[in-house]
Amino acid sequence: MIPRYLINPSYAIKTYPYSDCIIIGSGIAGLSTAIRLSKHNIKVLTKSSPSDSTTWYAQGGIAAAIKRPDEWKKHYEDTLIAGQGLSDKKAVEILVKNAPSMIEKLIEIGTKFDIAEGEISLTTEGGHSHARVLHAGGDATGEEIEKKLVSFTRELEHVNFRADYFVLDILTSSGSCIGVIGIDLSSRTIEIHPSSNVLIASGGIGQIYELSTNPPISTGDGVAMAYRAGAEIMDIEFVQFHPTVFRTNDDKLFLISEALRGEGAYLRDCTGNRFMTGKHPREELAPRDIVVKEMIKTMDKSGCDFVYLDATHIPESHLKIRFPNIIFKLKENGLDLTKDLIKVSPAEHYLNGGIRTGYDGRTNIEGLYSCGETAATGAHGANRLASNSLMEGLVYGWKIYQDIEDRLKLKTGKEEKRVLSGVKDIIKESAKTSGMGRTSGEAKLDILTLVSSLRNMMSRKVGILRNKSGLEEAREFVQFHIGNENLYNKADKDIVEFANMLTVANLIVKSAAIREESRGTHMRFDFPDKDDKNWKKHIILKKDKVSFKKAD
Ligand code: SIN
Repeated sequence: MIPRYLINPSYAIKTYPYSDCIIIGSGIAGLSTAIRLSKHNIKVLTKSSPSDSTTWYAQGGIAAAIKRPDEWKKHYEDTLIAGQGLSDKKAVEILVKNAPSMIEKLIEIGTKFDIAEGEISLTTEGGHSHARVLHAGGDATGEEIEKKLVSFTRELEHVNFRADYFVLDILTSSGSCIGVIGIDLSSRTIEIHPSSNVLIASGGIGQIYELSTNPPISTGDGVAMAYRAGAEIMDIEFVQFHPTVFRTNDDKLFLISEALRGEGAYLRDCTGNRFMTGKHPREELAPRDIVVKEMIKTMDKSGCDFVYLDATHIPESHLKIRFPNIIFKLKENGLDLTKDLIKVSPAEHYLNGGIRTGYDGRTNIEGLYSCGETAATGAHGANRLASNSLMEGLVYGWKIYQDIEDRLKLKTGKEEKRVLSGVKDIIKESAKTSGMGRTSGEAKLDILTLVSSLRNMMSRKVGILRNKSGLEEAREFVQFHIGNENLYNKADKDIVEFANMLTVANLIVKSAAIREESRGTHMRFDFPDKDDKNWKKHIILKKDKVSFKKAD
């Protein structure tokens, strides 16, 4: 049984004054929304430093149909094809139609996209029928965007930016959001921040797997806290693996952007044959789930645990301009992208599903919003199209800004009073159970071992390929640990992260077991085919209930 709160709210030693909006996370979704709402009294709470956000690591780019003959309808079609029948058509339309104007906004805050022959340079990636991926610094697109967003946000007078701040839970009263409870990681004090508008934009879940392209902060906190608060979680079985991840000499993972295949690189099996030829009309640039599936087959057949990425036929001068960071990283590892074949294999990369939202970013809890990788707008369906994620964060962040702006126009002093008295009630109510399971925070758990066994289980049984018995094994493992009361009421970052990881793992395992078909990034040995008759629908989890929604 998962408790309502990771730490009993009555242990908070401080309650802050009311904020107009609290934003959890400092990636593209959170910061772009903070900038737009900046005339109000806004707080941005982020678990680490901004450079640790997933946005920073996005190499390849950001997709927008900005140049003829490309147009939003083609971007729309490509996104639907990648989503394998589960994309919400309206959510996709909102995404792709608004994409070009979002690029203008990024340029306005100083983002410098790469230019070739006087025009913004566009490339392609898996699943795109046209070159529509804008990039910056060659292969450092996320870094360039994030740097500009962070420096812009820091200048804003009304935005209170707090790094090293771990939001634990969403506070709710009568079905509405009234704030958050969190820990200041430097002082380890537990605090409450009242607000009737909270945006969860805290990124992905990669740390529940052994191999992931995500940064260490990606422990699924946003999904877990939303679920505990009663939010709906949708499509969470769809976990995307990136095909081309390189293992460094010191055993770290380094993403090799799909844009390299966009510029013509090949995939070869370990005997040197191109294995995507004849498998899909777009060969190496097929949608990501299809490439990963063929890689797994190829690796199984050959007995090698890698395939090669080959860019040796691409002119050196071009590679140097487009992929300076990749070249640098490979050089550190004794490899030359222009001459050597690079060993790559798949690793977890992106959560397609998450906290279910409407087209305005609202969740089913009034005043609670979600955006970016944490959210499920429905746009990605069963498999996200490459380079749609940064854009989704921007477009839906803008929709959320409009919605919150409208709510703030209607706000009265009464609203603030209601929220503050709701917070007092929660503290009073939870004080009744405050003795239960409390410790001073010293961890008695061997958390490193627990995390590594969870990752091992998730990778073996709930990774790229799944089946009923493996999912059952994973379910038993997660159920056994999630009920451990030593995980709760501990002001210890590693413990609360592990509790969140278990919650997210539990939701993925549950949905993956329910979906008895293979579609997009959800592949089952025991149900190898797509089954539109029974499964062209979304799985929605809320508290202990499961419901379904027919797909478009
Ligand atoms: C990449 O550069 O390959 C990652 C792009 C993405 O996941 O959208």
